[in-house]
Amino acid sequence: MSVVRKAVIPAAGLGTRFLPASKAIPKEMIPVVDKPGIQYAVEEAVRAGIEQIVVITSSGKGSIEEHFQRAPEFETHLEAAGKRDALSAVRHVSSLAKIEYVLQTEPLGFGHAVLTAAEFVGDDAFAVIVPDEIVPEPIGDEPDLLKALIDIHDRFDASALAVQQVPHEDISSYGVIDPEEVGDRTYRIKDMVEKPPRDEAPSDLAARGRYVFNPQLFDALRVTERGVGGEIQLTDGIRLLMKEQDVYAYSHPGPIYDVGKKLDYLKASIELALRRDDLAKPLRDFLVKRVAEL
Ligand code: UTP
Repeated sequence: MSVVRKAVIPAAGLGTRFLPASKAIPKEMIPVVDKPGIQYAVEEAVRAGIEQIVVITSSGKGSIEEHFQRAPEFETHLEAAGKRDALSAVRHVSSLAKIEYVLQTEPLGFGHAVLTAAEFVGDDAFAVIVPDEIVPEPIGDEPDLLKALIDIHDRFDASALAVQQVPHEDISSYGVIDPEEVGDRTYRIKDMVEKPPRDEAPSDLAARGRYVFNPQLFDALRVTERGVGGEIQLTDGIRLLMKEQDVYAYSHPGPIYDVGKKLDYLKASIELALRRDDLAKPLRDFLVKRVAEL
């Protein structure tokens, strides 16, 4: 059985790419179909065997905590009204996992947000799930991304992160790896760089929102200086970790939607709705009709 039992969900970012929606609502609470983005992250963690989750939040994001809490009065009301489906949806959310919350008092970056979880994680290996990036639940024998990363961690006793081939013109938006292939879809990372100029990118394999780390990452993050954008970048912490131990990457074949971007948000909404029995047919009919009109 895997030793990876804890997950960190950083959700303290400013969400500037999703304004004005994210002005008063945390962007992690914006629904994709009928669930807030962060609920997909928690469900994914639970599917991969994670038992304890810490969400890194910032002030004004209290609705995240409220979403995963029990709502006894609401439940009583739904029960009395005989609304059983609604009741089970509400209960499901609060029974998913043991979730704690830690405040990141200043938005000093993704790496800093992960470091905020150090006390919660202690000496254990842990997953990091970026809730902006939605990985649809695999269908049939499609690989489960988080499970694949946990398998690599358990096999090499090493940290591992998800990567995907992205179009070369987009590469400067990502952390990019210099890969050495060591197995099917699996790479040892020789080096990594955050948001490189296009002609300096070591590959077109970009880091995508899912990680499994050994706890030594925290030692690295503690001495990581501010990098791109004046923020403490996770990529820089990973580079320091790589001086002490190998870090691996897994290239995920399935879709990953960055719902912090408007177009990806729309794609994720359509994809996830098309997977739903109650929505697939009418949505498909609408899309076919609408596309024919274009
Ligand atoms: P991003 O840079 O993609 O998120 O950080 P952001 O800052 O919220 O978004 P934009 O670019 O302004 O639209 C990746 C992840 O790290 C978290 C974010 O919430 C997101 O899940 N994060 C980022 C923090 O928790 N704290 C930070 O200081 C920065």
